[in-house]
Amino acid sequence: MHFRRFIVFTFFLLVILPNIQGQAASELHDRSFKLLSPFSLALETLQKQLGYTFKNIGLLRRAMTHASFSLDNNKALSILGASVIETSVSLQSLVKDFEISAEDLNRQIVEVSKVETSCAVDGMRLGLHKVIRISSRTNSSAPSVVCGAFRAIFGAIAIDTGKSDDAGKIFWSVHGGQVGGALVF
Ligand SMILES: *[C@@H]1O[C@H](CO)[C@@H](O)[C@H](O)[C@H]1NC(C)=O
Repeated sequence: MHFRRFIVFTFFLLVILPNIQGQAASELHDRSFKLLSPFSLALETLQKQLGYTFKNIGLLRRAMTHASFSLDNNKALSILGASVIETSVSLQSLVKDFEISAEDLNRQIVEVSKVETSCAVDGMRLGLHKVIRISSRTNSSAPSVVCGAFRAIFGAIAIDTGKSDDAGKIFWSVHGGQVGGALVF
């Protein structure tokens, strides 16, 4: 009886314990590896800037991946993000002024969707051109690139929360409610 217990204990010491410790060590290694990756660090910073922490960080990685870098890129997220932004602008404009004319509403949507003066500006302010993974042959500061990445963020948030409205709120906090100077949150 005693001897069997001794065997089991020895087995634990020699075989199981090193395994447990090994696992812990490799987890630690993974974690420090992630911390050391410049891309992961940039995603951490970006989340702080957005005031939003992803449940699935893979979505933000995808949003920050240009088509020139990988087939798994941000193109589809960017389309969703553009819709999220337009929906949010329409919603907030009508909530603020239910009698707004169709022309004025369209003007606000066009204004906020402009690549050069709106979403590329917001994206550059967030420093997305420094975060995005892109082929070295492609200009990461090109407005279409920055804009695509910016929009993709809101597509990614909408999928992460399952609600486009949550993504819209983050959009306004980043955009600063500057549409026509009328929307303040
Ligand atoms: C990249 O694009 C930006 C913005 O359009 C431009 O100012 C810059 O000159 C471009 N850089 C190169 C190397 O083409």
